[in-house]
Amino acid sequence: MARRKIVAGNWKMNKTPSEAVALVEELKPLVASDDVDVVFCVPAIDIIPVAEAVKGTNIAVGAENMYFEEKGAYTGEISPAMLVDAGVKYVVLGHSERREYFAETNETVNKKVLKAFEHGITPIMCCGESLEQREQGVTMDFIRQQVKVGLQNVTAEQAKTMVIAYEPIWAIGTGKTATTEQAQEVCAGIRACIAEVYDDATAEAIRIQYGGSVNAATAPELFAQADIDGGLVGGAALKPDFGKIVNYK
Ligand code: PGA
Repeated sequence: MARRKIVAGNWKMNKTPSEAVALVEELKPLVASDDVDVVFCVPAIDIIPVAEAVKGTNIAVGAENMYFEEKGAYTGEISPAMLVDAGVKYVVLGHSERREYFAETNETVNKKVLKAFEHGITPIMCCGESLEQREQGVTMDFIRQQVKVGLQNVTAEQAKTMVIAYEPIWAIGTGKTATTEQAQEVCAGIRACIAEVYDDATAEAIRIQYGGSVNAATAPELFAQADIDGGLVGGAALKPDFGKIVNYK
């Protein structure tokens, strides 16, 4: 069975609540699609107004992070139950910016992935190598580690429903998209890793996105690759271009 494509916008730390609603209104008609799952992953404070603004559309709301505890004395954090109550269906976990600036590790990402499943939120788990790692030829070793640790104690049934985003760090926000061949090669490698950890059926079901400077011009070729099931889009998700990326065909 063909995997359904999923295109998610990662708004990062952009848009105040009122700006967020205005952007949703602008993008709503442009991202309508029967073939592709569309997700807007937005800053925590924008989740409630965005969830309201997307009602009745094909857009699902995602968060950009989440804590792995249920509740309690964790000042500044947001719990999975809070996200669910606000209408969140997806959560980006382990983005390279969170790993770099906020001390996320494969272990904390794993705790968050497990917690998201417990609450019925679909994780979009990010992985990706630095330029140095690519140049040293350890890309796949590094990513396999991220994926395997990130998925510890995740069942095959759960893994089948999740999304993995392959985002080479050197391609994020740099305008340097990985070549189609580079992106396909690593996404195929991730799928092979899933097959080893679980089985072929799980590897066939899991959706793997490419992310890193995706735009309307590069999306069609990237998304046509056998192992690329859509994209995680940063900069271009804040522009009308996002509609073209969703409707890439
Ligand atoms: P970019 O960001 O599309 O701006 O490169 C992608 C991401 O970080 O998810």
